[in-house]
Amino acid sequence: MPTLTYLGHACLTLADGSHTLLFDPFLTGNPQASIPASDIHADYILLTHGHADHLGDAIPIARRCKATIITTYELAAYCERHGATVHGMGIGGSYAFPFGRVKVTQALHGSAIVGDRGIEYTGNPCGFLVHIGGKTIYNAGDTGLFGDMALIGRLYKPYAAILPIGDNYTMGIDDAVEAVKMLAPKLVIPIHYNTFPVIMQDPYVFVKKVGKTPRCVVLKPGEAFTI
Ligand code: NI
Ligand code: MN
Repeated sequence: MPTLTYLGHACLTLADGSHTLLFDPFLTGNPQASIPASDIHADYILLTHGHADHLGDAIPIARRCKATIITTYELAAYCERHGATVHGMGIGGSYAFPFGRVKVTQALHGSAIVGDRGIEYTGNPCGFLVHIGGKTIYNAGDTGLFGDMALIGRLYKPYAAILPIGDNYTMGIDDAVEAVKMLAPKLVIPIHYNTFPVIMQDPYVFVKKVGKTPRCVVLKPGEAFTI
């Protein structure tokens, strides 16, 4: 059974006892971060896109931990240029890693590194279906609602769905409730809210709107949950 630990915003780990997967490690500068980037251990780092609140500390953590960054081809190329070991993938593709299979899913969002000298394109944003510890977990990434979530639900039957609810940049609560209906998971975990003023949400409103099933678990930064 994998353990999910929420570290704040869209950052979380999934661990199966042998491998630790770290998603979107925005820790430095994240007011919600429960742990400094220097204290994180990861074997694999999965990045949904290149925005600063997702790429975050990925490259220094990957270099220090000798972790492999798994992400879209273009963002992987950027990370490799900055000294990280990478495994580039494309939307719709899957690959069997030592911990289990990862499939890259679409996300309706942007993906670029926005710096002082302009914008560096980092491919399409994505989500991930991760099979680890006997469970399939869907991390939607930053995305708006899309109808093919029904296809993801039907074909891959995710046990858990990790969904943004913050609104403004991603789905808000009502669209995330629709996503839950299409994905039909057993467990839902809301992320990507309350980090910045424009994404303030009450996660318990989401819990109430999801209803009794599936189970919806609100994790505080630093809290762990066995899936
Ligand atoms: Ni984003
Ligand atoms: Mn974001």
